[in-house]
Amino acid sequence: SCPIPNKKIGIVGSGLIGRSWAMLFAAQGYKVHIFDILPQQIEVALADIEGQLQNLEKSGQLRGKLNAAQQFACIKGTVRLEDAVKDALLVQECVPENLALKRKVWKGVDEVAGNNTIFSSSTSTFFPSTFSDHLKNKQNFIVSHPVNPPYYVPLVEIVPAPWTLPAVAKKTREIMEEIGQTAVSFSKEIPGFAVNRIQYAILNETWHLVNDGVLNVADIDKVMSDGLGMRYAFLGILETTHLNAEGFTKYCDSYANTMYSVSKEFKPTPKYEGPTVSAIAKQLEANVPLDKLKAKRDWRDKCLVKLSQLKKEMEAE
Ligand code: NAI
Repeated sequence: SCPIPNKKIGIVGSGLIGRSWAMLFAAQGYKVHIFDILPQQIEVALADIEGQLQNLEKSGQLRGKLNAAQQFACIKGTVRLEDAVKDALLVQECVPENLALKRKVWKGVDEVAGNNTIFSSSTSTFFPSTFSDHLKNKQNFIVSHPVNPPYYVPLVEIVPAPWTLPAVAKKTREIMEEIGQTAVSFSKEIPGFAVNRIQYAILNETWHLVNDGVLNVADIDKVMSDGLGMRYAFLGILETTHLNAEGFTKYCDSYANTMYSVSKEFKPTPKYEGPTVSAIAKQLEANVPLDKLKAKRDWRDKCLVKLSQLKKEMEAE
């Protein structure tokens, strides 16, 4: 069993994201109980987690102080929802992105969990208020939206419903920080949270620059990967501006007119349909054919491992 038994965590849904959460919690000695509607999926998940933990140990990437076998001993699978969630410190729901399904799953959790349990959803897109209004413990409900792959990309967006207790939001943030993630706390729900709002703003402008024939696909992507993105892995956009002048006030003094006059020319939001979709797809596929996506994802994950090591080194300086 778990050598430094921490409290109980329930994971509901044992796919890609459920497995990641299980590993993040087990690294700190939490007793993790994984439930899935498909018993066979639980077996697959446990075998996958065990293999991932062993590989992480071999490559020196394993989180926490326990070894891989000890961490794996902290994770149990169960075919009974109640066993996974009853009296848990926190339940992390990771079922597919379907509102009706999430409403149903949370109703089931609500009936058996207990009122001291934090109800945390991994949803990427749904407002917490749209699938917690029917729960008797809705004051304990919150969204904790991770970024893939969570083992290397630490951000978690913590988004409350209007009825979420502030103490629940605070405690959730503390738990996320304890397991080594970087939590950001929203004061209220907003479409796209922050990650997708910013991602879409960039994507919208990128679309227009390609659509207007200003830059081709390979070159527009270099603007991020070899330009802006180089610093964004270390500094946010606001601190970037702060450093690019003698502070943010001077930055605005110097650049306000330029920023405003460029930005007010921005075109309306694209609908992401029509011939530009196939034109962009064709250029992307010439570089990375669809049957090579997996290989490129593996390379991306290797890059993220190295980048997260570099970030740790640089933060220690
Ligand atoms: P997935 O499809 O890999 O896994 C979903 C799991 O839920 C499956 O194992 C399925 O058997 C199980 N499931 C289905 N119905 C269930 C039920 N009634 N009770 C218990 N388990 C049930 O999905 P994935 O990618 O792990 O996504 C899960 C959630 O995480 C979604 O809300 C998604 O939006 C969110 N998310 C996903 C990210 C990603 O990159 N994949 C990133 C951030 C959030």
